[in-house]
Amino acid sequence: MTALRPAEPLLAPSLLSADFARLGEALTLLEEAGGCVAHVDVMDGRFVPNLTIGMPVVESLRKATSLPLDCHLMIVEPHRYAEAFVAAGANWVSVHQEADPHLHRTLAAIRAAGAKVGVVLNPGTPVETLVDLVGDFDFVLLMSVNPGFGGQAFIPRVLDKIRRLDALRTERQQPFFIEVDGGVGPDNAQALVAAGADVLVAGNAVFKAADPKAAVRDLCARMKAGRG
Ligand code: DX5
Ligand code: ZN
Repeated sequence: MTALRPAEPLLAPSLLSADFARLGEALTLLEEAGGCVAHVDVMDGRFVPNLTIGMPVVESLRKATSLPLDCHLMIVEPHRYAEAFVAAGANWVSVHQEADPHLHRTLAAIRAAGAKVGVVLNPGTPVETLVDLVGDFDFVLLMSVNPGFGGQAFIPRVLDKIRRLDALRTERQQPFFIEVDGGVGPDNAQALVAAGADVLVAGNAVFKAADPKAAVRDLCARMKAGRG
């Protein structure tokens, strides 16, 4: 049901695939291309086997752009840091269900801090585990790779998860949005939106493209086509 989805699909290019010495330029490119939020992958070397960035970098990104910052926390004990990411300037904050046994409390704390809040599900975590949290989150981020690295192959079973989540929001009449992250590119963007996704994360498909701005525009066009 359209009213339960954002008016337009959005692209969330992942800064993980950009040059970390030139993040300001990456943000300017996304602003010029249009239709974007900036996806920020926060990794702690414990929840995932990689280390990336923390709050000081988000603070700097905040000063450099008016684009919404979508902070994907791949960290253990996310309740310890989630509000600090909001204070640093994150507009959307998502936490992994697998990383937090007290999600209800963490989601409420993030909302109270003033950000949109999302729950992230790894490829092996069923969407049905969210039925008792519907209404407590603004979006669900479905991983279509195992988190930790950019440039991995898309896991197609996420398409069925999107459809089941779309059915859940229709059944509950709750307007949360569905974001998909990992291995997204021109070959699957349209099908993901047609299945019910509203926001697509794309790292390598944008920042490793010969012309990143053209890649953003192409992906956005394919996403719009997915809405039919
Ligand atoms: C993976 C990250 C993704 C990643 C996506 O753990 O959450 O956001 O950067 O990169 P691509 O689009 O290259 O798979
Ligand atoms: Zn991510």
